[in-house]
Amino acid sequence: MIDSPGSTSDIVQGLLEDLHRRYSRLEDGAPADYIPELAKADPSDFGISMTTVDGRVYEVGDTRKPFTIQSISKPFAYGLALKLFSDEHMASKVGVEPSGDAFNAISLDQKSGRPRNPMINAGAIATTAQIWNHDPDQAEALMLDYFSELAGRRLSIDQAVFQSERATGHRNRAIGHLLRNFEIIEDDPEESLDLYFKQCAITVTCHDLAVMAATLACQGLNPFTGSRPLTPEITVRMLALMATCGTYDFAGQWLYDVGMPAKSGVGGGVLAVVPGRLGIATYSPPLDVLGNSVRGIAVCNELADGLGLSLFNQYPQTSSTIRRSYKGSQRQSRRWRASNQARLLQEGRDAIRIVHAQGVLDFAAIERLLSELRGIMSDVWILVLDVAHVTELPEESRGLFLNELTALRRRGVVVLMARARHLNLPRTLSVVGVEEEMPQFEQLDQALEWAEDLLLDSSKGEGQNPPFSSEIDRTLGFLGMLHPAHRQTLADLMQCRSFAKGDHVIRKGDSGHELFLVREGRFTITVELCGSDGQIYESRLATFEQGMCFGEIAFLSGTPRTADVTADLDGSCWVLERHDFDNLRQWEPDAVTELLLALTRDLGTKLALTSYQLTLMEHL
Ligand code: DON
Repeated sequence: MIDSPGSTSDIVQGLLEDLHRRYSRLEDGAPADYIPELAKADPSDFGISMTTVDGRVYEVGDTRKPFTIQSISKPFAYGLALKLFSDEHMASKVGVEPSGDAFNAISLDQKSGRPRNPMINAGAIATTAQIWNHDPDQAEALMLDYFSELAGRRLSIDQAVFQSERATGHRNRAIGHLLRNFEIIEDDPEESLDLYFKQCAITVTCHDLAVMAATLACQGLNPFTGSRPLTPEITVRMLALMATCGTYDFAGQWLYDVGMPAKSGVGGGVLAVVPGRLGIATYSPPLDVLGNSVRGIAVCNELADGLGLSLFNQYPQTSSTIRRSYKGSQRQSRRWRASNQARLLQEGRDAIRIVHAQGVLDFAAIERLLSELRGIMSDVWILVLDVAHVTELPEESRGLFLNELTALRRRGVVVLMARARHLNLPRTLSVVGVEEEMPQFEQLDQALEWAEDLLLDSSKGEGQNPPFSSEIDRTLGFLGMLHPAHRQTLADLMQCRSFAKGDHVIRKGDSGHELFLVREGRFTITVELCGSDGQIYESRLATFEQGMCFGEIAFLSGTPRTADVTADLDGSCWVLERHDFDNLRQWEPDAVTELLLALTRDLGTKLALTSYQLTLMEHL
């Protein structure tokens, strides 16, 4: 399993149990008997399974009892043929028009000479003949492997049912020879008929069919195993055929009442799909005169009606594809800047816009995203686009999305993509014939820092801090808050310590007996966070540079360090040891009071900005 399925709802389970209880009393119809072995089915068998595209299962009754798949194999066999052959080849063998005939009609389309569709026996036998023809020796193994992948477990053939149909399937044999006569089948039809009888005799359970239905609902990806037996393109075609031809001459009424692509089989199974949402399967052998399971049809009807599952009953999707959007002044990176740079950034931050997109960006969603972007981009020249919550960017929308990014770039907007790895976006955009880099970042914070750097670069050096006039000036940022005499006292007490790039300055769990003032270089505080996927991620809390202090929380509270600090570059810090600080309390209490006041002010500034951003997160 790729996803461990979440816990299931008692309410939904209760709903299926209620359906099962009520429809157990429906005793119309009888098991198929035209294949003698099928007549042995127990008419009281009854199971209902429902699967979700994210891997949850609801089931009630005989959902693990084996029976033969029969005609439910037909859309899947057609899917396999589309994997093996071109669309043109398959189109030359079988049509895709509903026939209005019974499943076993001995008829071909008068104009084209082909079977009307792959769901009636003529079309299904023609389809299976192609699979056989592809590799006569391996066809059976190929078929079984494929059906097993769809169901997510090893399936086998019920030899008794196979032999029973083989011995009595004269009508299908007549169809096979008719197809041979019209060169739809190009070899001896007997071998292909055998493969068709075997395909119909594959043993499944109601649960297996629900997994197969979920695989169709998931565009061909089995949500229980993570394997992909079908492409989205082929899956769409199979679903279209199931919708128009899946229930033979009942297909129009079915689509009108139930509105779901579905397929029934004379073994008693019914499989229905709510694309993108659910798989549904029922098992109950008694059939109506058209060969469909009586209880299966009734249950699907009630589910479609009661739960609004019809394809034609789609709610208007109006929720925004922008999860959040805010100005650069409302969110900044965790890199703390020295005073000059901070001031410059403060003035220009609103040239940055941060946008978090979300959901599946299908056509309707991408259209909304593009128009929403247009509405918020005036006076902005740096766009940070965080797509961590975009669950999918379908191929059809990808081009539109990249076109919009290119158009923004052409208008002078720099686009920085954050958390886009899962979307496999190109590294460059072609802007007026020139390939331009599209910077991508693993974390939003890195993109924000880059955006701020761009802003500072654009202010042409005004953001540089003034040159130092003395050694102690190097750390003026923080020490500037002290009286010059006290500043000197502290400077005399502190040790200068050098670090090479990558060195650990502090490790989580260390005792906090030192206070650091950055003399040169940059130092980053990181913590380990557990993501919603259970993985541990390193996350930056802050980066400090010249003149800033760190390590003060554990230093003041006497508690162990809660995060790691490493040097981003070669650099150095002034370090105040606790015992020197304690001594100072004895003989220069005023200096200590001033230092504490400065630390409080510094902490206050950091806290104010952090809580401002947190509050905005809640309200934006
Ligand atoms: O071709 C046949 O007769 C069977 N093996 C399959 C027919 C079937 O399931 C028709 N479906 N409703």
